Amino acid sequence: MGARIVKRFIDKVAGVTGAGQGMGKQVSLDLAAEGARVVISDIIPELLDEVKNEIESAGGECLSILCDVTSRKQVDTMIELTVKSFGKIDILINNAGLLIPGAIEETSDELIDKTLDINVKGVLYAIRAVTPIMKSARYGRIVNVSSITGKRGDNSTIFVYGASKGAVISLTRSAARALGPWGITVNAIAPHAVLTKLMRYWDEEKKRSVAEKIPLKRLGTVQDMSYLMMFLASDESSFITGETININGGYYMD
Ligand SMILES: NC(=O)c1ccc[n+]([C@@H]2O[C@H](COP(=O)([O-])OP(=O)(O)OC[C@H]3O[C@@H](n4cnc5c(N)ncnc54)[C@H](O)[C@@H]3O)[C@@H](O)[C@H]2O)c1
Repeated sequence: MGARIVKRFIDKVAGVTGAGQGMGKQVSLDLAAEGARVVISDIIPELLDEVKNEIESAGGECLSILCDVTSRKQVDTMIELTVKSFGKIDILINNAGLLIPGAIEETSDELIDKTLDINVKGVLYAIRAVTPIMKSARYGRIVNVSSITGKRGDNSTIFVYGASKGAVISLTRSAARALGPWGITVNAIAPHAVLTKLMRYWDEEKKRSVAEKIPLKRLGTVQDMSYLMMFLASDESSFITGETININGGYYMD
């Protein structure tokens, strides 16, 4: 990341799901670089090892936990271990997500369950697990990763993906209303077209044609996403809650 003079997360503890690669990895590195103790979790151990090494070799502090967000028990344990190791959790980034391309007819029962389990239930479990801890601290920053598809629908991903990300927008608002009185903000980001492993099914022609339709004439980067997530995780955004912020180069505005 670029040089930063201000470290916004000294004394803060942050948990990031799906931190092994993509935007989850970037925000984990950046939070640690700005002073946070970061709990990285994912389902792929080798990726977690790489992120942990990168954080620690840059002088940051990090705890790595294997956690499948579809398992309520694993999510609860991840939050318990966070509190046991670092004494609290100030920031939760619900980033883990699954996107599968396909048409309505290709949307099998199994894929519907899998998508909803990761993209919706995973977020619910994690918010529920941190709620008592953040309430008693009377402080919290929760950042969920929705998608442009959650706002405007989509026909390139399987039928349920947009619905799963729409659910994230709704539960962001519900949690923001419920937790606001305790000084906890809950916001989401709605990205479009960020080049990560998730988008591996786009060939060069598809990338070019998507970028062409974006007013800023490029695809998004994990760094773009991380800067917004960090803003929402910081005290600079303390009067913003319940929002799902578009981050798409001007492609979709609402
Ligand atoms: N890339 C985009 O253009 C784009 C656009 C809109 C929204 N999003 C959302 O951004 C988030 C991050 O996506 P990305 O593009 O960085 O993808 P990515 O595939 O690079 O990273 C996702 C990470 O989540 C992990 N993961 C998957 N299932 C998990 C589970 N059950 N439990 C824990 N971790 C799990 C993966 O192992 C992976 O490391 C997702 O929620 C995705 O839906 C991405």
